[in-house]
Amino acid sequence: MSHYFSEKQDVKSAKKVINYKIKDEKFEFLTDNGVFSKTKVDFGTDAMLRVFLDENKKLGNIQILDIGCGYGVVSAVLKRFFEKVKILSTDVNERALELTKENIKKNNGKDDFEVRKSFVFENISENFDIILSNPPIRAGKQVIFQIYEESFSHLNKDGKFYCVIQTKHGAKSTQKELHKLFGNCTTLAIESGYRIFKCVNKK
Ligand SMILES: C[S@@+](CC[C@H](N)C(=O)[O-])C[C@H]1O[C@@H](n2cnc3c(N)ncnc32)[C@H](O)[C@@H]1O
Repeated sequence: MSHYFSEKQDVKSAKKVINYKIKDEKFEFLTDNGVFSKTKVDFGTDAMLRVFLDENKKLGNIQILDIGCGYGVVSAVLKRFFEKVKILSTDVNERALELTKENIKKNNGKDDFEVRKSFVFENISENFDIILSNPPIRAGKQVIFQIYEESFSHLNKDGKFYCVIQTKHGAKSTQKELHKLFGNCTTLAIESGYRIFKCVNKK
């Protein structure tokens, strides 16, 4: 049986369009069976994006990584709010990657972005100014801790890592691990059982 974090989906495709609004900007996302949060944008993702947009009013020509992009919510939203940013969206789920391509394009009318298949950082050699993650809890602690560890090493100096995690899904151990790696970890918000963390690479 395939999961939302499997490379190939054996569940029958049944695409549909869902609506989403953030800070008065409206989006339409194409979703499908076999991808994460297919019926509505995940609460945690929405909370992380709202906090991120409150923190970052203007961003120039910087490199952003949307790791574990799913059907591309984070990438599509950031591309709308920050026209100049360069976004790389990665995931292991091939169906999700196809949806991400369509969703960034359809919500922004541009194709200056890159979508790439990668298991964690396997196919990512670049460094970034910002990395965002709603980590794949179901894929297991080893995978999510690998995302944290390699995010640290793939950030430029003063680069920032943002993530969201439910308190009951191990937010405390995430916070401890991030603090160990980065030497800092700020809790930006706690909302309905979700925590949004930010770490800065001060290497
Ligand atoms: C919690 S979902 C978040 C999806 C999307 N960012 C969002 O907020 O809607 C985690 C995503 O990580 C992907 N994923 C799972 N294991 C992965 C891995 N080893 N490397 C990269 N992505 C992975 C899943 O396929 C899934 O799309």
